[in-house]
Order: sequence, then C-alpha cells, then structure tokens
Amino acid sequence: MSTLADTAIEILRENDRGTYTVPTKGLYPFQWNWDSCLTALGQHHFDEDRAWREIETLFDNQWPCGMVPHIVFHQMDDGYFPGPQVWATGRPVPTSGITQPPVAGFSLKRLFDRAKDTALAEARVKALLPKVAKWHRWFYETRDPRGEGLVAIIHPWEAGRDNSIDWDEPFERVPTEGITPYVRRDTQHANPAHRPTMEQYDRYLWLVEHFRGLGWDTSKLHDASPFQVVDPGFNAILIRSCADLADLADHLGEAELARENRQFAEKGIAAMETLWSEPHGQYLCRDRTRGTLVDSASVGGLLAAFCAIPTDRAAAIARTIDNHGTRFRVASHPPQDSRFDAKRYWRGPVWLVINYMIADGLRRAGEVDAAAKITASSLDLIRESGFAEYYDPMTGEPLGGGRFTWTAAMVLEFLSMEQ
Ligand code: GLC
Repeated sequence: MSTLADTAIEILRENDRGTYTVPTKGLYPFQWNWDSCLTALGQHHFDEDRAWREIETLFDNQWPCGMVPHIVFHQMDDGYFPGPQVWATGRPVPTSGITQPPVAGFSLKRLFDRAKDTALAEARVKALLPKVAKWHRWFYETRDPRGEGLVAIIHPWEAGRDNSIDWDEPFERVPTEGITPYVRRDTQHANPAHRPTMEQYDRYLWLVEHFRGLGWDTSKLHDASPFQVVDPGFNAILIRSCADLADLADHLGEAELARENRQFAEKGIAAMETLWSEPHGQYLCRDRTRGTLVDSASVGGLLAAFCAIPTDRAAAIARTIDNHGTRFRVASHPPQDSRFDAKRYWRGPVWLVINYMIADGLRRAGEVDAAAKITASSLDLIRESGFAEYYDPMTGEPLGGGRFTWTAAMVLEFLSMEQ
C-alpha cells in the first residue's frame, strides 16, 4: 500500500506540466499564482530544481509594472471561464489582470533555508529577489495610495478566498447591469450548490469588464474600483513575505532591498491593529470605500497570525479557533454564524493551505499546541477523505476538485513537520 507521501508525490507529478503545475485537471487547467508558490514547497521535498522552476515560471509572466497575475494561461483550454479572451490583457503569454496573495517571498525563504543544494539556492534566489521586491513595491504604490501601511484587494478573486462571506456586503456596491452574456464553466466541473451564486458571478464579471475598460492600467484600478477591501489575511501574507524577503536580501548583501521590505513589514504590522476586533477575538476586513470593519469573522482574520502579530493576539486567535468547535479545523467561517455553509466554497469548508499558514504563524508565536492540533487535524482529514480541494469541517466530506495539487504539497509539508 502506498503511503500518504507517495500519493502526494504522485499527484504533484500527475499535475506537473513541465515548468508549471495545474491545480487540478479539468476545473483549473492553467497556472495559479499562490497555488504555484505553495506547490513549490511540496516539490522541494523530492526535486529542488523543479521547485525553483515553478516560481520562476510565474515570475517570467510578471507585468512590467510589477504585478504578478493571478492566472497564467499557458495553453488554451475551453473548459475554463473567464478565459484569456475575456481578460484581454494583451500579455505575450495571456494572463488575467488581477493578482493573488503574495506568498512568494515566504516560499523563497523557506526553500532557501531548507535547500540541500545551497549554491543552486543562492543563484535562484538572487535572480528572483528583485522581481519579488518589485511586486511588493507595486502593492504599496498602487493598493495603498494613502500610505496606511495596508493594501486593498479590488476583486474577491485576489484574496484567493473567492466566495467568502467577507465580500457580501462590499459587493452590494458592485453593479450587475450591462455585462456581456456568458456561460459559466465551474458548475460543469463541480456541484453548483458548492459554488458561487449567479448574482455573485455577475459581479465578478462586472469588475473584470470595468478594469478591462480602463486598459488594465494598474495605477488607475484601485481608485476606480467600487470594491476596495483591506483583508487581514492577504495583508498578513504580504507582510510575512516582506519580512522574509528582507532576511534573504540581507543574507545576499542587498541592503537597500532589505531596508525597504523591512519597512513595509513594520508599518504593516502596526497598521494591522486597526483591523482587530475584540468582540470577535480576531481581525476583520475593512471596507475601504466606507471606512468600516466588515462584520464577518472569516478565516481571513485568523490567517493574520501568519505575520508577526503581538503574542496576545495570536493567543486569542488560537482560542477563537477552539471555539469553532468543528470536527476538523480550521473552518473558513465560524459555524455559529447563520451565514455559515459547510459545503459552499469559502463559506465554511476547510482548506489545507490556510491551515498550513495559520499553523506556521501560531507556532512562531509560541502557540505550539494550537499549531499541532491544526497539523494533526489536517492529516486526519487526508487519511479519511483523500486529497480534495476542500472539505466539510463537520463531516470531513471531500469537496470541489479531486487529486488537488496544493493539498498534496501541504501534506508533504505537514508530514515533514510531524517528524
Ligand atoms: C479557487 C480558489 C483560489 C485558488 C484557485 C486554484 O479559485 O478560490 O484560491 O487559487 O481555486 O486552486
């Protein structure tokens, strides 16, 4: 019988397209930004060179302005909507026109710290470092125009938590009229009851068409967007990546890049305090167009533990996770909230990548037991339900796509932590 690790490696190889990896066959046939950066961590356990390549391919498709797109459409595939014709970004290799959680800086450091082949690692990081730094600079220049220290996302898909309850209220300000008629593809690959509603989809597309109408000039999109949300999870990932990149830059003698990124991280950590909600025992999103916190205690506010938040905040987050009381952790929304939906995409289910980042942050903050519980729960889920895209936190039922790449990568990570 093959072990969990064998199956994980088999899945990573099966979804490998040579220089990039698809998240899963059918549902997601291209390269996704944060999927690739987290997938590289798994690949590194059995092929260091291939792991570096995964991230390099993504950065080969960085825009001249510095943005790294959320999808790179390496090969045509009719099975996905919205495809390259809808985005129409005019890139040499077609890409989408929005971004995704910038976890690359974190991944680079982790790959570098663990590298057996240190000469290889140094050469690869040296080349990637200025590109990741450019992406970080782009974020603070275009998505934090008032210098608050926190960046906004302008489309729910940027958060990576596409269908979260966090976006329901800010989404009310996004129109649905006037969009080009379209046919969804996601519901042909997955159960429609687990996917976003038609109305939400209309709004996703309205934003895409609006940005396309502005010629994908990323210096204009933030101010022109009716949707501007400061997501604590997204910012925590960016802050952690800035801090990690600063360490790498120091190591490689790039003092100026180190200083710049350390400054982003320090300012960001201080500003995170403005998102803290004492009654919820966690961070919340801020709707920037209104200036108010969004009353939705999603996992985005727990993922904040991924950056160096104060230790009492990390301890409170550990308690909040316990209070969910779900059989498997960490639910993407608390079951105590009436809007919780155990099976619908990002409105309740568990994702292993999120678990990994929360566990990593809590461990660093000294919440070792809380981190160990998340690791154990993640592996229990895999043993019971296989390598799915996401899971029902109550029953453990596997949901969404199967034989999923980043789930497999995280299993290799969790297994190596348990040793
Ligand atoms: C879904 C997820 C997103 C992920 C993508 C590919 O769209 O919401 O976070 O990157 O699938 O796995």
